[in-house]
Amino acid sequence: MTITRNSIYTAPFLQEMMETAANLYRLGWAERNGGNISYLLHEYEVLPYVDVDYVIRTVPMNFDASDLAGKYFIVTGSGKYFKNVEKNPVRNLGIIRIAEDGKSYEILWGFEDGGVATSELPTHLMNHMQRLSVDKNHRVIMHCHATNLIAMTFTHSLMEEDFTKTLWEMCTECIVVFPEGVGVVPWITPGTNEIGKATAERMKDVRIVLWPHHGVFGAGTTIDETFGLIETAEKAAEVYTIVCAQGGKKQTITDKQLQDLADAWHVVPRKGILKL
Ligand code: 13P
Ligand code: ZN
Repeated sequence: MTITRNSIYTAPFLQEMMETAANLYRLGWAERNGGNISYLLHEYEVLPYVDVDYVIRTVPMNFDASDLAGKYFIVTGSGKYFKNVEKNPVRNLGIIRIAEDGKSYEILWGFEDGGVATSELPTHLMNHMQRLSVDKNHRVIMHCHATNLIAMTFTHSLMEEDFTKTLWEMCTECIVVFPEGVGVVPWITPGTNEIGKATAERMKDVRIVLWPHHGVFGAGTTIDETFGLIETAEKAAEVYTIVCAQGGKKQTITDKQLQDLADAWHVVPRKGILKL
């Protein structure tokens, strides 16, 4: 029996990946091959478009992702330019399934030129495991080189409480969007299991983790929510850059006003930041 499948180019998840890569590039947060995205897909979302019984290639991984065995992801390719995703998705993106032993992944679609998933796959998968353990609706991990957030990691205290407080102060909506604040890991070589473990450790409590002098990781339940989270933090960092360039703060949102905001939106700000 021949099964008729829909064209994958009509798949909502592929459209979302293409749009997001284009937006990250347009905003200047994904130069060259900078940035990577992984999006957890339900099997029922993949089945109308892809023959999941046909494995194109299997790629080993040197960490244990057995908690994700059998799970499907659409993910950006290593060394691929976000600039090019929209015009050539089958080369720059792939749909993968984590193998039963959690030690390799199977390519089911994409990476047409022999490519593989992002070099940051350890961080992505470790973050997915962590976020799923605290939020069963979690689905997206996004990394990019957001300009002003990177710049702030050179000029601002890297203490999470200090960094969070400054971002909250720079735009009224920040405390509502990320009341749990931001995480910061030390500088660690990218692409390693070590940076993956350090990032995932922070992802237990937060959905934004900064990689000093490199970029940002965001986590969320949808592509839009995750993009919006990074966008909000980066906007605050941009305002901070401009405030510094204009000679520094003359007035600000007070801690009491930040608490009032949190109360109005029924969110609980991370403890130890507001001095009330
Ligand atoms: P990849 O091209 O392997 O996704 O790496 C880009 C990047 O931003 C590394 O941190
Ligand atoms: Zn990067």
